[in-house]
Amino acid sequence: FIPPKAAGSGGGTAAKDELGNAVTASGWLSSHKEGDRSLVQGLKGDPTYLIVEGADAIGSYGINAICTHLGCVVPWNSGQNKFMCPCHGSQYDATGKVVRGPAPLSLALAHVSVENDNVFLSQWTETDFRNGDKPWWV
Ligand code: FES
Repeated sequence: FIPPKAAGSGGGTAAKDELGNAVTASGWLSSHKEGDRSLVQGLKGDPTYLIVEGADAIGSYGINAICTHLGCVVPWNSGQNKFMCPCHGSQYDATGKVVRGPAPLSLALAHVSVENDNVFLSQWTETDFRNGDKPWWV
């Protein structure tokens, strides 16, 4: 078995579901609705949210679910439209930008790409579009 690799420039890590199977865009979109934020195993195995932007579109960035306070996995609360950490109450908006402490920083980003229906994650090294800063996680 050879894990699929993205063609072209950057490559990346194949996103995997909770069973360790590679995530396909078509499979994901058939079981997740617009606005959905659900976890895959991403870079270094970190739990990472994929965003469904429409019936046929997975968002171009993923959100690392590790709370920047003390590392709990932060669940998505669709009713509140926020990520809300159960450990000490930190909150992040729908893009993962911190809106309430004690978390000091926003959730880390990753690039998401789709090649031949396979979903890949790769390092986000550019400016954090949510605040215009350099990414703290690089
Ligand atoms: Fe998330 Fe403390 S670990 S608020």
